[in-house]
Amino acid sequence: MGNIVHSKTYFSLMKIPNKFLSILFLLFAQFTLVAQVIRGPYLQSVSPSQAIVRWRTEQATESKVVFGDSPNKLNKSVESAQKVTEHELLISNLKPNKKYYYTIGDSKNLEPATEKRFILTAPKLGSTQPVRIWALGDFGSGSKNQLEVKNAIINYTKNHRPDAWIWLGDNAYSKGLDEEYQRKVFPIYQEDFFQNLNLYPAPGNHDYAGKHDPAEPPYFKIFNMPVQGELGGVPSGNESYYSVNYGQVHLVSIDSELMEPKGLQVMDGKGAQFEWLEKDLASNKLPWTIVYFHKPPYSKGSHDSDTEKDMVKMRENVNPLFEKYKVDIVMAGHSHVYERTHPLRGHYGINNTFDASKHIVEKTSAPNEYVVGKEGQGVIYIVNGSGGQLGGQREGYPLKSSIYSNNKIGGSMILDITKSKLEAVWLGSDGEIHDRFSITKK
Ligand SMILES: [Fe+2]
Repeated sequence: MGNIVHSKTYFSLMKIPNKFLSILFLLFAQFTLVAQVIRGPYLQSVSPSQAIVRWRTEQATESKVVFGDSPNKLNKSVESAQKVTEHELLISNLKPNKKYYYTIGDSKNLEPATEKRFILTAPKLGSTQPVRIWALGDFGSGSKNQLEVKNAIINYTKNHRPDAWIWLGDNAYSKGLDEEYQRKVFPIYQEDFFQNLNLYPAPGNHDYAGKHDPAEPPYFKIFNMPVQGELGGVPSGNESYYSVNYGQVHLVSIDSELMEPKGLQVMDGKGAQFEWLEKDLASNKLPWTIVYFHKPPYSKGSHDSDTEKDMVKMRENVNPLFEKYKVDIVMAGHSHVYERTHPLRGHYGINNTFDASKHIVEKTSAPNEYVVGKEGQGVIYIVNGSGGQLGGQREGYPLKSSIYSNNKIGGSMILDITKSKLEAVWLGSDGEIHDRFSITKK
């Protein structure tokens, strides 16, 4: 039936003189030529009251975002007349914890709105509503494992989507180039996550191409971090590190690669980033704290925390701070495995110096169910670095301090957090939960 209609149109067009056909074509092109969107849309710096929508087009055009309460009722808009290929529009005066459908375009054309294209603003600061966080590390490799880990999360969260997405660094292999983000990151997560999930990333050594100068990585051009305290933490004013209050959890993203002008890194235990970290942790009033960054203080996977200087220094100089401020979870990547320690305190030496009777500080109501009173517990250190890359094992694996490790299968973590309980699962690329634990605060 469709073919018949098509051929009738074809024959009727054949009767029109060429000159008129050309005019017709030009008119047609005028009304239908939509600049091709080649990246995004993706959401950045989403707070209780604002969101940044970004996308990239092949040709330079104006920018427009329309938004509203349903895909059929996009009755508000923001726009910019400047012709650009990198589009970035701030939508402000939004209400907290509210879903706004949106779509993007230029002054003449808009992409179709869909059910999956929406902004869910962050909860009102201090809100006790439960939140779900997806933590993903070392993923942008273009591997089969990357797709399988993503698909397992899509399936696991289909009836309860994540509210926020944290990245543990090494987001695009192998040099963090824009072109690598374009091939191995954006297309993989665009449809299900980039256009509707609130992303709070951290960079890794590959995003810095093995260097330490924050002026270089495309990471800082591609992403906008909430560095002005938009989400309640101490303003950092530096896109390398920042914090976010999301429901009852204080999320702190730090940068294990950044070298400050005086040559200092956070693992030196001094310098601007370290000072900000201490100030931020000291100011936190929320019951839960998760600090995340790339290079872990403990690992025996593809990296060795006994011998690699950055990891040794992180453990010696920064772990005491995590313990002092009763951080609940420290999460990293870098090692392409999964490793979870017991709640620890005071274990700053190499793996062989671990002494369970001295370093484990925990109370449990059942295996892997921790109960924390006013005195606090130790810090649980997690390596969650197999979201795309996978495998590796150094002498001494698994860590003596580890309660569960897995270097055979890739995966990522889902954390469900209420005011008094945190539940975490490590979901493998096979769709199975391989590790789970909970912390209850009295
Ligand atoms: Fe790494």
